[in-house]
Amino acid sequence: MSFEIAVLPDPESLALAAADEFARSAADAIRKRRLFRVALSGGSTPRALYRRLTRPPYRGAIAWDRVRFFWGDERCVPPDSERSNYRMARKALLDPLGIPPRHVFRMKGEEEPEAAARAYEQTLRRHAGGFARLDLVLLGLGEDGHTASLFPGTAALDPGRRLVAVNYVAKFSEWRITLTCGALNAARRIVFVVSGTEKARAAARILQKGPGWRELPASAVCPRRGSLLWLLDQAAASKL
Ligand code: 6PG
Repeated sequence: MSFEIAVLPDPESLALAAADEFARSAADAIRKRRLFRVALSGGSTPRALYRRLTRPPYRGAIAWDRVRFFWGDERCVPPDSERSNYRMARKALLDPLGIPPRHVFRMKGEEEPEAAARAYEQTLRRHAGGFARLDLVLLGLGEDGHTASLFPGTAALDPGRRLVAVNYVAKFSEWRITLTCGALNAARRIVFVVSGTEKARAAARILQKGPGWRELPASAVCPRRGSLLWLLDQAAASKL
């Protein structure tokens, strides 16, 4: 598994580096395939990145009408819930850029989870090709080594041939919809964006293949025919 690592001094420069990555992937995909298909990550870390993309130079540098938005995972909540990954991205990125709804393919957390997961798999296959080969997947990392909603010891880690699975996450008493490792690893490029000392232990275990590293779900993320970049701020990289 080959990958790049870049360590940035602080969260602001991490967001800038991630914005540069986003812009580069977008320009490349649009040049080669006329569209840029990106899966956004949830949680709180990417908010700074999304906000940065709505300001110069990124706002004017990216052909936003050629971008199609997907998600790596979603909490099974309504789209206007404070817990919704879609809501966070809509407020930080989609609304400020005026992205038309027809270019946004959200996981429907308000629907019955299994039905929503199956519907999303069809959406992915329809809009990202039969193998759901996204141009860029943005991912975060949890303290327990989870990514997207692939948590240690959960069913979605063994999805068979599914591209989208449902997962009950006991620690949050919450159902989630998530891309499976198979779907994530079909991407042309995957970029982890990781910030904060609370992620340092998991990041070091994965990147240095420390004791039990394979038990951490994020360790299974490696594009089959693509590239992988880990972007960390100094705090998240402090145990490397
Ligand atoms: C989610 C995310 C999840 C997130 C990590 C890190 O739905 O919460 O998909 O995988 O990326 O938990 O979250 P923070 O960025 O909030 O630390």
